[in-house]
Formats: sequence, C-alpha cells, structure tokens
Amino acid sequence: MTALCAAESIEDNSSKGLQIDGRNLIAVRKRGQLYLYENSCPHRSIPLEWVPDQFLDTDKHYIQCATHGALFRIEDGLCITGPCVDDHLTAVAFEVRDGMICLS
Ligand code: FES
Repeated sequence: MTALCAAESIEDNSSKGLQIDGRNLIAVRKRGQLYLYENSCPHRSIPLEWVPDQFLDTDKHYIQCATHGALFRIEDGLCITGPCVDDHLTAVAFEVRDGMICLS
C-alpha cells in the first residue's frame, strides 16, 4: 500500500498533481468526493497541465487539458469535448486509509 498524500490536503473543487514511483497522477475533489487519474491526456499521451496543480476549467466543472482544451468529466474521466471526445482519462484505484490517499 503506497501512501500519496493527506486526503484533506485536496480541498473541494481543487486538483493536485502527484508523483509516485515514476507515475504522474492527478487527484481532484468534487462535492467532497475524491477522484484519482493518470496525468496523461488520451489525445497525445502528455501531461494535462501547464501550471502545477491546475487541472480544472475556470468553472471547476471539468478537468481540462491545457494543450488543446479537451474537457473531461471529473466523475468518470470521460472526454465530453475536444480532439479526444469519448476517450477517458485512466482512473487509478485508491483508498483513503488513516487519512492518507493510498494506491490500492
Ligand atoms: S493533448 Fe490534450 S487535448 Fe490534445
């Protein structure tokens, strides 16, 4: 079980980049729920952000790729608009244990 960070360090409607064991991940919290994805856009297989920890659109409704603007639903990673529409971000299995986000 690999601990990533404290769950409470990710506030509602915010996102955070996490690196662990050579993996590049993003964590997002929406309506109190945490989501974890690989930080790789399905369009070009490159990281989603230009600015550290900023993965959300201005309304904080979607995860946004900074390169070509694809928008992904936070809840399931589905791309709803952009060059990779209908593709998904890759979800990462995790659990919160003793207040820490841990890879399952
Ligand atoms: S690299 Fe993400 S939309 Fe093109």
